[in-house]
Amino acid sequence: MTNMRFNKSALIVIAAALTSVFVSCGKKDPLSPGVEYMPDMYRGPASEAYGESSFFSDGLASRKPVSGSIPRFNDETLPFYEPYSYPNTNEGYEAAGLGLVNPFATSPEILAKGESIYKIMCIHCHGEKGDGNGILVQRDKYAGVPSYYSAALKDLPVGKMYHTIYYGKNMMGSHASQINYAERWQVIKWVEKLRADGLGISAGSDTTAVAISDTTKVIGAVVKTAMK
Ligand code: HEC
Repeated sequence: MTNMRFNKSALIVIAAALTSVFVSCGKKDPLSPGVEYMPDMYRGPASEAYGESSFFSDGLASRKPVSGSIPRFNDETLPFYEPYSYPNTNEGYEAAGLGLVNPFATSPEILAKGESIYKIMCIHCHGEKGDGNGILVQRDKYAGVPSYYSAALKDLPVGKMYHTIYYGKNMMGSHASQINYAERWQVIKWVEKLRADGLGISAGSDTTAVAISDTTKVIGAVVKTAMK
């Protein structure tokens, strides 16, 4: 009998204790799920990039890139917003014409890339042959598109082409956000090919590469003379 009574009061005490434990769970924050049995499973101990951490004094888990950093993609291409130092002025246009060279040498692969970009981005105005007679011009939707082999453009340097593709010029809008750095230079290769074809110059002639190799030869010759 005494035993029974003891058991009863012991049960009441245990029940009260358990109730208070469960009731107090998560009381501070009504949205809290309460006890977490294996918090590591919910919250990995590894830091999240730019997450919170006590490791650095500013509380950020990772360091910010050095100011002025330019992101590069895995294939080393630059993003659309790569820096371009020539301003959108007449002086910038002239300077680009003198200063810029195509980083690509002419090759069947580069020409094929340029052609495919041209057929997506340019052909409707400039025409398949670059004569300025694209479908929009034929349908009177657009006017003033010059032929690449007109007197005005037959000697246009590639730097000016790049500048125009980048900023746009009069009726041609900027294409800087549509095609990236590499694509601009690739499509220029195709523009040069169309121009050479239109002018009846041997296809694929690469004036830039020739100019560069000439300079190398000249520098080589100067060095040789200097060493004598
Ligand atoms: C909506 C029509 C249109 C599209 C699309 C277009 N262009 Fe043009 N483009 C023009 C017009 C108009 C001009 C003449 C601009 C001027 O000199 O007034 C021009 C001029 C040019 C010139 C001569 C630039 C200069 O400095 O004189 C080049 C090179 C050129 N375009 C290349 C391209 C390439 C490459 C593309 C595709 C990436 C393209 N264009 C897309 C309409 C277009």
